[in-house]
Amino acid sequence: MIRSSDIQISYDHPGCPTEVAWAKVPREPDMLEKAELVARVKRMLLEQSAVLVAHYYVHPDLQDLAEATGGIVSDSLDMAKFGHEHPAKTIVVAGVRFMGETAKILNPEKRVLMPDLDANCSLDLGCPAGEFAAFCDAHPDRTVVVYANTSAAVKARADWMVTSSIALPIVRHLREQGEKILWAPDRHLGNYIKQQTGADMLMWQGSCMVHDEFKTRELQALKAQHPRARVLVHPESPESVIALADVVGSTTQLIKASQQLMADEFIVATDNGILHKMRNLSPQKTFLEAPTAGRGATCKSCAHCPWMAMNGLCNLAEALETGKNEILVDPVTIQRAALPIQRMLDFARQINLPTRGIGNA
Ligand code: 13P
Ligand code: SF4
Repeated sequence: MIRSSDIQISYDHPGCPTEVAWAKVPREPDMLEKAELVARVKRMLLEQSAVLVAHYYVHPDLQDLAEATGGIVSDSLDMAKFGHEHPAKTIVVAGVRFMGETAKILNPEKRVLMPDLDANCSLDLGCPAGEFAAFCDAHPDRTVVVYANTSAAVKARADWMVTSSIALPIVRHLREQGEKILWAPDRHLGNYIKQQTGADMLMWQGSCMVHDEFKTRELQALKAQHPRARVLVHPESPESVIALADVVGSTTQLIKASQQLMADEFIVATDNGILHKMRNLSPQKTFLEAPTAGRGATCKSCAHCPWMAMNGLCNLAEALETGKNEILVDPVTIQRAALPIQRMLDFARQINLPTRGIGNA
């Protein structure tokens, strides 16, 4: 029998997936090139009836461009919703592969492009579809709930898909129905939800190699130096880091908290790409990155996702120009994987979950 703990990916050797990703991070264009690329992308988006959907972790240039062109910058739930509801013929996803696949599954008739198709995610990589199917087969009495950060094939095996902004109400709902849950792949998010809801959850043992790097003792020390700072933590972080949080939530929820809390200083435990939006919305406030490197640390990420970093202006322009890097998912997988995603979107509508990226019209 496949046990979830059998699947381990190591990130600290030459040629490991993150090293490969860092090597593909595009170079930063100079000011002149940047202006020319921005103008070209704007023109091509219009000509191709395309919309740019970006995540908060990608380069600030892409976040700004998405907003300036009528697209969105948001968390993964709103990225999925926005692309689904938008009339554009092409959705350009600046994020990681599972976000592009989700857009394609929800919109099979639309073209979905990405700046780089190799932009992956350690949670997705750590949950191969074959092993996951065997794990599910071994526990047929459980409702299968998967995090958005999974491949289309893994979603095709699920009953529900959730993102971090809606995982708690969905699992609470399932618990109220008396259902036992098989959860994959993020063990930290899974444990957090289990603690909050009391649900019976059997976990796949995956983790995000970016959030896994946040260090508890160093965070305590930083808190001691900044006693008035509020701590904002994404639930993919380890339990001991979550325990130090004032607010735990999805990227959108953390940004909202940074606007709404009566504090001048924040320590942020998630990918540092999020600071662009936080600083723009609250320029008078101070935002500090939660520590990743410390005693015993193996900081490969330094609070930035190497796969998110693979999105740049140059490869975005190239994707639109050539039509390359189109996300394709086979029709049978689309049909099956659409069910758990649609179930989540319907649930979000029913409970009236406030959505839309922050600062988007
Ligand atoms: P959000 O849905 O909170 O944006 O999270 C996506 C993600 O990949 C976090 O690492
Ligand atoms: Fe995946 Fe972590 Fe990157 Fe998010 S930050 S996309 S969970 S590797």
